[in-house]
Amino acid sequence: MFNCVFLDFHHICAKELAHLEIVGTIVHQLTKGLSPEEIEASGFAPYYTDHTLALWPQAAGGIPFNACEFQSKGDAITDLEEDLAAEQKARTTYDNLLRLVKDPEVSDPLKFLRQRELVHFQRFGEALRRVQENLNPKNFYICNPEFDKYCGRQR
Ligand SMILES: [Fe+2]
Repeated sequence: MFNCVFLDFHHICAKELAHLEIVGTIVHQLTKGLSPEEIEASGFAPYYTDHTLALWPQAAGGIPFNACEFQSKGDAITDLEEDLAAEQKARTTYDNLLRLVKDPEVSDPLKFLRQRELVHFQRFGEALRRVQENLNPKNFYICNPEFDKYCGRQR
């Protein structure tokens, strides 16, 4: 049961890294060759001061990317619920970006990535259902099905 979930997770992780590559390429293309005047006028100066035009992953609010972005508890139910929330947060971020971006060379890839988040949400939901179907349907939140032997599982 958990091997199937792991395969789903592994596949989606590979796709997410590909998303990072696409977004990084878009940022690189948008910032390549900017003049100091363009940097100043666009509000990009604080980032430029720290990183010039290099790619340095961070949230839109300036919070640097770190391992805390990868939520992992070692409990299939906990982790899949977290994954479902992450996919919805990604979808919301793409929705917010698409309200701001008018250039189709930027918005079209973002729309593609947004659609992938919807598919990921669906796949994680299916994985969660598979895990829950093998547990005690009356109460499967009382234990870690990956660690606690027989806890919550139907014998
Ligand atoms: Fe995703």
